[in-house]
Amino acid sequence: MSEIYKNEQYSIQERVCDLLSRMTIEEKVGQLMQLPAHFGGFTDKLEEWHVGSYLHCTGDDATTLQQRAANTRLGIPLIFGIDAIHGHCFDNHATVFPTQLSASSSWDKDLMYRMARVTAKETRATGQHWTFSPVLCVARDARWGRINETYGEDPWLIGEMAAETIKGYQGDGPNREDSILACAKHYVAYGETLGGRDSYECDTSRRKLLSLFMPPFEKAVKEANVASLMTGYHAIDGVPCTVDKWLLTDVAKTDWGLDGFIVTDWENVRSLHTKQYVCENEKEACYRSLLAGNDMIMSTPEFYPLTIELINEGRIDISVVDTAVERILTKKFELGLFDDMRFFTAEKSSVMGIKPHLDVSLEASLKSMVLLKNNGLLPVDSADIKKILVVGPNAHDVIAQLGDWSFGSMQAGATNDTYHRDQTTTVFQALQKASQVHGFELEFIKGSDCVDENFDEISQIEQALPGVDLVVACVGDTLSQNGEFHDRADLNLSGKQQAMLEAVKASGSPLVVALIASKPLSIPWIAENADALVCGFNPGPYGGEAFKQVLFGEHNPSGKLTVSFPVHVGQLPVYYNKYVGWHAQSSGQLNGEERYIDMPKDPLFSFGEGLSYSQYVYSTIRTSRQTIEPNQDISVSMNVTNTSQVDGTEIVQVYLRDLYSSYTTPVKKLCGFARVDIKAGETRAVDITIPFEELALIDSSLNKVVEAGDFHIMVGSSSKDCDLTVLTINLTKDCVVMKSN
Ligand code: NOJ
Repeated sequence: MSEIYKNEQYSIQERVCDLLSRMTIEEKVGQLMQLPAHFGGFTDKLEEWHVGSYLHCTGDDATTLQQRAANTRLGIPLIFGIDAIHGHCFDNHATVFPTQLSASSSWDKDLMYRMARVTAKETRATGQHWTFSPVLCVARDARWGRINETYGEDPWLIGEMAAETIKGYQGDGPNREDSILACAKHYVAYGETLGGRDSYECDTSRRKLLSLFMPPFEKAVKEANVASLMTGYHAIDGVPCTVDKWLLTDVAKTDWGLDGFIVTDWENVRSLHTKQYVCENEKEACYRSLLAGNDMIMSTPEFYPLTIELINEGRIDISVVDTAVERILTKKFELGLFDDMRFFTAEKSSVMGIKPHLDVSLEASLKSMVLLKNNGLLPVDSADIKKILVVGPNAHDVIAQLGDWSFGSMQAGATNDTYHRDQTTTVFQALQKASQVHGFELEFIKGSDCVDENFDEISQIEQALPGVDLVVACVGDTLSQNGEFHDRADLNLSGKQQAMLEAVKASGSPLVVALIASKPLSIPWIAENADALVCGFNPGPYGGEAFKQVLFGEHNPSGKLTVSFPVHVGQLPVYYNKYVGWHAQSSGQLNGEERYIDMPKDPLFSFGEGLSYSQYVYSTIRTSRQTIEPNQDISVSMNVTNTSQVDGTEIVQVYLRDLYSSYTTPVKKLCGFARVDIKAGETRAVDITIPFEELALIDSSLNKVVEAGDFHIMVGSSSKDCDLTVLTINLTKDCVVMKSN
């Protein structure tokens, strides 16, 4: 074989170098192009534009296109990207998982890894190589439509979950037929756009970016070697992320050493001209995007002719394009696409939606259940029940249960939804099965719709209520109320849901509320009036089964919130890791009256909160030392006793606060946690190490420094002060952790 790039004996670097030397300008620019394949898309341009990548290519189209690419002059394989966000949901036979927000309530890193492994295997089995996941945006404003896609509001926890997810997608290394590329998105601070409006301006500083929004991405690059980053739509302090060289090149590539590539989000380049008005024409947009450090351009078709013009005019040096092509080709080689892994050959049905994969989805649904209130009603003994009335729009709605980026949202044109419907058990269906086993009567009345204000079956509910032992109300939101283009100004229950709950309450029947929603809604009435509240967000196909298991005590809930619930939309923002205003202090104490005059200061439910059927007692909490030297990690240890009669799992949390520093810092930030299984009556010793670097802040020169002085270490079961024990440690000397370039 004469061509080095076709010969597996050579290193990837040698093969890339050889291939690059054979490519024309047109072929090189084509490699940077990612075009949509769905709904007809741009598949006809494959040969003419030497297209390097397609997104949203479902069904058998991937094989056909890959075959066409193999027949081109150099035979460079295509790389297919898809939004396999919570499972490879756009495939008719893949395993669907709870959404990222829902699954994050498990605080289970190993589960994140295994969910991603399943997704990687199934995605690869359909000839796709790259998922646009995970989302590393920080959830800061519940009005934002994409809260469901996040791991919640804590940057550190997001980084921990994301790193495991990325490792799961990418597998043990290159050249494996069951690995795909991950894409950490949306780089960066996309969840911080003003008013929770999707893709709006974000007003933050580089210091805040480095303190709050970039750390998860840094972890994704440095610890998990993520293969790609996706730039956000929005602008930060007036500069669209797509043209921010500091973000893309100086930090991600140079400082962090990203060896993968950067892809823009959908039409980001064109939008610099058509929507953000920072470039007078599309050619300027292509020019600025390339120089900023983007490697692959998603869905701006004009990038192809315009970039060729820019190169031929001498405005763009071909070396800029070469560097981007090199990054992309390297990943194609690593995926084995030039060799015998160009086509997936194994039997699809031996991989897709198989029992072991579905079992992981069930586990995720169970671990994602968060018990937010229980006045003693739960768990219910089925022997005491003669009749259950199930009400609410989400009691029997597959699409509301699965959430965005599933087949229901149709972004990738998935066609046949039968399998996903069959795979899904709604709350009503799960209780129906239980009624047959336990012999209680079950009635279902929808009562209200999430969006149709005119849908009203409250009188039917009122008629059915006498003689009912328990009402299970499944409320929340539905697909048209979340996702891109669906930000909400109102976080109250929509439709007639509130009136429906009030009618149930008036009857005096015990009321359990199951919240199936894409985000934290403002539900103070439920918090006060329901006997029990279980939150699952979009809990996946097994969400109904999981609720049923919690209801009857077949599963002891262990999930904890990763996002705070507002009392009212006007209370936003309400994240736990807030900064203190000085009017927030009374008599020198923090946590004074920091609030709007007409609103409580605390969220309805806080980050880290979640009950269990077990009770846990923390004792002998201590740090390894009270005085630390620079670069010394801190070890925190404690005993946790399960004082109840039931086995359970506690999520132990450790927070820290820098007491006095040159800059304001959050009142607390998570810096460690452990999921601990504790049998009834058992005491477990728990050790958590806080890396020294976690004490750092970003100074005005953008250096990462730890300032000498006292720090509080707070240990307990949630982020709420009343759940935490405070210890003090002291650092003797200032220390620079990382100098900015
Ligand atoms: C736009 C979304 O913002 C992004 O998350 C997604 O991956 C791309 N479109 C591709 O579908």
